[in-house]
Amino acid sequence: MSSPTPDETLQERVSRLRSEGRLVDRFGRVATDLRISLIDKCNLRCTYCMPAEGLPWLPKEQLLTDDEIVRLARIAVEKLGIEEIRFTGGEPLLRPGLVSILDQVTSLSPRPQTALTTNGLGMARIAPALKDAGLDRVNISLDTLAPERFVALTRRDRLHDVLDGIAAAQQAGLTPVKINTVLMRGVNDDEAPALLRWCLAHGYELRFIEQMPLDGGHIWDRHQMITAQEILAELQQHFDLTPDPAHRGAAPAETWLVDGGPIRVGVIGSVTRPFCGDCDRTRLTADGQIRNCLFATEESDLRAALRGGASDDELADRWRTAMIGKRAGHGIDDPSFLQPARPMSAIGG
Ligand code: 5AD
Ligand code: SF4
Repeated sequence: MSSPTPDETLQERVSRLRSEGRLVDRFGRVATDLRISLIDKCNLRCTYCMPAEGLPWLPKEQLLTDDEIVRLARIAVEKLGIEEIRFTGGEPLLRPGLVSILDQVTSLSPRPQTALTTNGLGMARIAPALKDAGLDRVNISLDTLAPERFVALTRRDRLHDVLDGIAAAQQAGLTPVKINTVLMRGVNDDEAPALLRWCLAHGYELRFIEQMPLDGGHIWDRHQMITAQEILAELQQHFDLTPDPAHRGAAPAETWLVDGGPIRVGVIGSVTRPFCGDCDRTRLTADGQIRNCLFATEESDLRAALRGGASDDELADRWRTAMIGKRAGHGIDDPSFLQPARPMSAIGG
């Protein structure tokens, strides 16, 4: 329905997609991937994400209810052409209604693909129920395999629980299990080969993510960031990496086959190799705000409209309007760049 026709100008493409009801922006990008943050709370305190004391959590009455989330997901799938829904947090496993939300979202038609980004705590217990509710895949965050480092990095002594959670996800068939790693200078930047070796041994797909300026404590420093180029150079000293360009598409990870494959490793150069031109995402925060970009400085309040009695069509229209003004790129390198007020834990990854 949205494939470009050969002689169409950008303006014609945008009008056509708008008239088809799609979530298109003025650059002709179409959002088909919805990320829903289910909760802003977390049971870890990763130093690059949250201060030790946590953040001022959203008051309960501002959080969307399970029914409100399912309604918005239905509108996204039925009216806006969303094909994939990823649940994030904070830590989404802390949301009591998660299994029921998944159950209802995977019953929508056409059935969206579903994924979950989690820190893995609690996964050991809940993985089979998530699979039964129709969850397709998971990404689990793991920045180190060294127990003392894990404590320093997350301020909690829970490495064992995370490793058990990862194993349980794979056993439940939430595959391919992807592992997300953020490397930090002087903290865990010597661990890339060990993490990859461990993932290869277990059949997990590892993705290194460049650290982005989205931390609650505003301590991000470009010079502390380990770049995609550095990560690749380090991995190439230990592994034979074959570029796998066919695999990229709108996915942000550039991937390589490791030692001839079949397992891949991915590097997400969010900062130094931005993929904004291919972005296909739209985001819904736990308190019902649409964000057209991780780095957006403005949001669109769907919760107020929804609680004010708006119809499905009105909500869909608001969502389309929120997307049309999406900026071309994140602009982290612009002198005028402003870190969004909302931290990553309240946006979702
Ligand atoms: N930059 C890059 N990745 C981040 N994550 C959290 N904060 C940042 C950041 N500032 C990662 C987590 C998790 C996913 C949700 O995003 O490690 O894997
Ligand atoms: Fe929690 Fe994820 Fe933030 Fe770590 S990065 S504190 S696991 S939300």
